[in-house]
Amino acid sequence: MSSPPSAQKLSFVGGGRMAEALIKGVLASKIYKAEQIHVTDPDTARLDHLKTQYGVQTGVTNHEAVVFSDVVILAVKPQVAAEVLKEIGDVLAKRLVISVVAGVRLGRIMEACGPKARIIRAMPNTPAMISEGMTALAIGAEIEESEMRCARQIFESVGRVVRVDERFMDAVTGLSGSGPAYVFLMIEAMADGGVKMGLPREAASILAAQTVLGAARMVLETGDHPARLKDQVASPGGTTIAGLHRLEQGGLRGILIDAVEAATRRSQELGG
Ligand SMILES: NC(=O)c1ccc[n+]([C@@H]2O[C@H](COP(=O)([O-])OP(=O)(O)OC[C@H]3O[C@@H](n4cnc5c(N)ncnc54)[C@H](OP(=O)(O)O)[C@@H]3O)[C@@H](O)[C@H]2O)c1
Repeated sequence: MSSPPSAQKLSFVGGGRMAEALIKGVLASKIYKAEQIHVTDPDTARLDHLKTQYGVQTGVTNHEAVVFSDVVILAVKPQVAAEVLKEIGDVLAKRLVISVVAGVRLGRIMEACGPKARIIRAMPNTPAMISEGMTALAIGAEIEESEMRCARQIFESVGRVVRVDERFMDAVTGLSGSGPAYVFLMIEAMADGGVKMGLPREAASILAAQTVLGAARMVLETGDHPARLKDQVASPGGTTIAGLHRLEQGGLRGILIDAVEAATRRSQELGG
């Protein structure tokens, strides 16, 4: 199978926030048309919303939707993943399965679907909701390059994609999965600093958030090392180097490294 042909059908098992972000993304990028997409979820109010908002087909029976699909995105909460895999594992065996379920390893999905199952594990993050997501993809042994391209296209519709070996998925969870929360905290704290120095709250929040966005885009778009970009704004005896000195005294680098490590370890514990 190559990148999504027009006849291909995509189904989502679980129509929550991540499924909605992906539906929005693939429709906006015209990878799939609404009539090619089927979503199942036990919550009929949720299904009504998805049908009204995006024109996709909906239903409450997972088996029925999956049987008519070429690609299935598993988007249920980790707590119900085992039950869903038990329910539809046999039909998933014949389809390209992309799981976004945090912490559920390829091996566990393989156990439910059989050793020949074609499975890709994805770890997106919340900015996918606004098409600025970061997704890591890990592929199962049976995946062909064309299937990887198909998954890449789906997740590129909501942001950037990197391919990693599955053994790095916990570190991905600790960095880009949990990372938006670290940055929210930084934005809030920087805005608090502005308020402390007399800025109105609203202005301080915009100044902080746009500064983080602009700096991140400079790293991505210039390809320059962040240390080089930092050096360019730290003029001798100036304001920035005074602020940087204080951050180093407070151990910002070490604490961020610790945060990624702590979240990675927690992900390893939860994954068992
Ligand atoms: N949100 C993120 O940023 C993010 C990032 C990375 C990974 N993920 C992963 O993506 C998955 C979905 O997350 P989410 O934030 O979209 O969660 P969510 O909003 O809770 O969506 C999950 C949906 O699955 C439905 N569901 C429950 N049991 C089901 C069943 N047996 N068959 C079909 N659907 C069922 C739920 O319905 P009810 O509410 O009625 O139970 C809910 O609508 C999770 O495994 C999460 O780890 C999410």
